[in-house]
Amino acid sequence: MSPLARRLKRLIAGFGPLTVEQYMAAALGDPELGYYNRNEPFGRQGDFVTAPEISQMFGELIGLWCAVTWRQMGAPKPPRLVEIGPGRGTLMADALRALQTVSDFKGVVKLHLIETSPSLERRQRERLEGTGATWHRTLAGLPSGPALIVANELFDALPIRQLVRTRRGWTERCVDTDGDGFRFVLTPGDSAAAALVPARLRDAPEGSVFEFSPSGISLAHQIGQLLAVSGGAALVIDYGHAESRLGETLQAVSRHRPHPVLEAPGEVDMTAHVDFALLGQAAREAGARTYGPVSQRAFLKALGIEARARTLGAAARPDEKAEIEAGLGRLTHDSEMGSLFKAFAITHAGAWAPAGFEQARREDPPARAARAPGNAGAA
Ligand SMILES: C[S@@+](CC[C@H](N)C(=O)[O-])C[C@H]1O[C@@H](n2cnc3c(N)ncnc32)[C@H](O)[C@@H]1O
Repeated sequence: MSPLARRLKRLIAGFGPLTVEQYMAAALGDPELGYYNRNEPFGRQGDFVTAPEISQMFGELIGLWCAVTWRQMGAPKPPRLVEIGPGRGTLMADALRALQTVSDFKGVVKLHLIETSPSLERRQRERLEGTGATWHRTLAGLPSGPALIVANELFDALPIRQLVRTRRGWTERCVDTDGDGFRFVLTPGDSAAAALVPARLRDAPEGSVFEFSPSGISLAHQIGQLLAVSGGAALVIDYGHAESRLGETLQAVSRHRPHPVLEAPGEVDMTAHVDFALLGQAAREAGARTYGPVSQRAFLKALGIEARARTLGAAARPDEKAEIEAGLGRLTHDSEMGSLFKAFAITHAGAWAPAGFEQARREDPPARAARAPGNAGAA
């Protein structure tokens, strides 16, 4: 039994079943025994591979997206670049290299990294040494002013709650002990959170599951508020659905394979699909505008990933060229990350459509939430 499993069992014995959210928060985020404080969850040797670890093109294009968006904002000085959940720091290292080609950005950009895992923060400090970056535990630690915010595969790692439709109404799924392990149980009565199930889904058949992430919603609201007040834009890339829907997506992964969700807490990765509709609603309620989501394929193609692959390939050895093409395929093919993964933008309420979102659905804040940005360019 993992050390965290022992600790969770004692907690349940003392206080009763944990919500799925409490279990997932401990499994991923416990500062001592949580999964993200393990040494090496990423890459071929780890449990999963993220887009920046697949190809340098991903981070490079996002770096250039930041530069273009910054110019659209009226180039406020200094350019402030923020990444939430930077993992190994690969995306930012690739983005900064690409930004060396942007004369008014390079050398003056202020980099801020928001990371909750002490061990990943150490890893990022090594990778981004010499960049002058500063680290924060939460968004609240950022200095005020317009910002370009990037979050790749962050929201899928934020804990979710699960509501289950039963004969008694919408109850909440919790985690109880079961011999040496854990099992799911349901709360006996209706959950107060049932009000969050969209009206069109409330009459769902028995057994239906509705998932939502309170910390994801709260973070989207904080990002929206920051951008509405100070100006700027956020780029969120993750896997999930454009509209709220029913379905169970909580999963655990170990060594690139599915793993039983309640086995070995703290030792396996846990994620759930992102509900972009709920994130968008939260950001707009805070006074921001949202664009998308659009598929990762459409977004990366609009940013020129095919041309970048050709340029890199022209100077590469045959084995490197094959790797560049494989990376392009994994990032953009529908059968890989091309359509399940989506890009979503949050901006201040007067912003132009950011690059890659020109054809995307734009949604404005409700009139009561709209504010004038303090220091942002585009109208
Ligand atoms: C799946 S990894 C993605 C890493 C990286 N963005 C990438 O694409 O390779 C999730 C990252 O988010 C961090 N993280 C998890 N919860 C967080 C939170 N509430 N605030 C900031 N970072 C968080 C993790 O420690 C990790 O660095």
